[in-house]
Amino acid sequence: MSFHASLRSAAQMLFQRIEEFFDRFFGGSSNPLRHLGAMGLYFLWIIVGTGLYLYSVLDTSINGVYNSIGHLTREQWYLGGVLRSLHRYASDAFILVMALHLVREWAYGRYYGFRFYSWVTGVPILWLSYVSGISGYWIVWDRLAQFSAIASTELLDWLPIFSEPAARNFLSPDALNDRFFTMLVFIHLGIPLMLILGLWAHVHRISRVDYLPSRQMMLGTLATLLALALTKPALSDAPADLAMVSTQLRLDWFLLFIHPLTDVASPAMVWSMLIAATALLFILPFLPHPKAEPVALVDQANCNGCSRCLADCPFAAITMAPHPSRPGYKIAIVAADLCAGCGICAGSCPSSTPFRSQERLVTGIDMPQLSVNDLRQQLEAKLSRLGGRSRIVVFGCSHGAKINALSSTDTAVISLACTAALPPAFVEYALRGGADGVMLASCRSGGCHYRLGERWTDERLNGRREPRLRSKVPLSRVHHLFASDNDNKLLAEALKTFRNRIENQQADDDPLPPYFRRNSYHA
Ligand code: HEM
Ligand code: SF4
Ligand code: SF4
Repeated sequence: MSFHASLRSAAQMLFQRIEEFFDRFFGGSSNPLRHLGAMGLYFLWIIVGTGLYLYSVLDTSINGVYNSIGHLTREQWYLGGVLRSLHRYASDAFILVMALHLVREWAYGRYYGFRFYSWVTGVPILWLSYVSGISGYWIVWDRLAQFSAIASTELLDWLPIFSEPAARNFLSPDALNDRFFTMLVFIHLGIPLMLILGLWAHVHRISRVDYLPSRQMMLGTLATLLALALTKPALSDAPADLAMVSTQLRLDWFLLFIHPLTDVASPAMVWSMLIAATALLFILPFLPHPKAEPVALVDQANCNGCSRCLADCPFAAITMAPHPSRPGYKIAIVAADLCAGCGICAGSCPSSTPFRSQERLVTGIDMPQLSVNDLRQQLEAKLSRLGGRSRIVVFGCSHGAKINALSSTDTAVISLACTAALPPAFVEYALRGGADGVMLASCRSGGCHYRLGERWTDERLNGRREPRLRSKVPLSRVHHLFASDNDNKLLAEALKTFRNRIENQQADDDPLPPYFRRNSYHA
């Protein structure tokens, strides 16, 4: 294993462990580590909302800005002061969640193949976020602003872009004027606008984007930010004075770490590090990585244009076009470069029902690696070999709990790319074909490798999403477990409890309804 692969797998293990620890307190849907992108967007809305208020009340001239911010912080502490603090703390939080989001996506290997676009559009966001954040500190025009402005321009002067050194602007108090400040405000408003555009590009090629965290997360986060704003309000340093050099400053390490770094290294070293880090992020998707999964294939004759696959595809890889041979009908089209090979579309297609009498089951959209026909054959073969008092079929996914360890004479296991690749009719098919119970082991909530699989599976089984598990199927014979590949114990216990439940039902003379009388799919 290469150094990069070992580092990534160690980082993944660490992330996974911490996420699973957080699950105990927050649950999957409110686990901040599983919703870092949504947290980032939430912080951005707080920054934009509070920033608009600050912009509307501040005097943004060079002589007025310091006093007007001070006045707002002191005299209107309950509103302006709190909003100022929220603006500052939400900016720090934005940077923190962005960094964690980046490292997490890398750690889980989500930066190449069909995720290439999301990854590369994320890189400019890093730059835009830092430039907006740093320029925000300048607007206050206190000693910290002065220090950051001089340090930043000195750093910029190292690049051959200005004919005259930009740091000269700060040599004497009269070198600065309102025009400089107007430009600053323009930068501090313009770059966040570019950032919002960048974020739109970042997510527009995936579907059902996690735009906002859960209500619980939003309220908890807002309460924490408010508590910080009230107990440790954002304050200005002494007013900027270009005749003086500041020595004692309260640095914001999230946004301004670049200045002490330049002090200990050198502008040349800092630029080399920044350029190398950016280049590395752009190069990462081109490094050798596991072979891509084959993409979904549409079968013209079996696609009726219902659009269910389009609704369920997590990566917006499907579009609908006029059917080439059936006028008035549509057909699904798969964009190969966006397709993750997850099979969720095959699980959603109405033609994927195993009850169809075709000897070779051909569905509307299918996966070459495990077709719906292969799945039916595999299930039938395993059902025919099952024995014991309670026969259970376990469907799992290749990124979640390790279901193979459960395989035994009374337990058949079938692994798919994602549990949502299983058409729900297969659950009924298994029960009618000899199984006493069916267990599905999806990833932990919010932890699906293909973003939405565990959610779709749950909604389909509970009749909230097409294709639904038919209401005739007794839910007491179906168990949906959410587990990760660390949850071996949980998995084994869930199977044991499920088996006990089924055996108790059988002992209570509560068999499957006659409709589910045992069929043998084998002659
Ligand atoms: C604070 C800035 C950022 C915000 C607010 C943000 C937001 C988001 C959101 C909301 C998603 C969709 C998540 C989902 O619905 O499953 C996402 C996905 C993604 N982001 Fe970011 N992002 C940011 C920065 C970055 C950066 C810097 C990178 C890496 C260079 C990055 C890489 C990715 C990748 C690879 C995905 C795709 C995840 C997947 O397909 O499962 N993001 N981001
Ligand atoms: S395999 Fe997954 S990503 Fe590809 S088209 Fe189907 S649902 Fe979309
Ligand atoms: S779900 Fe199946 S039938 Fe419906 S549009 Fe997609 S491929 Fe065609």
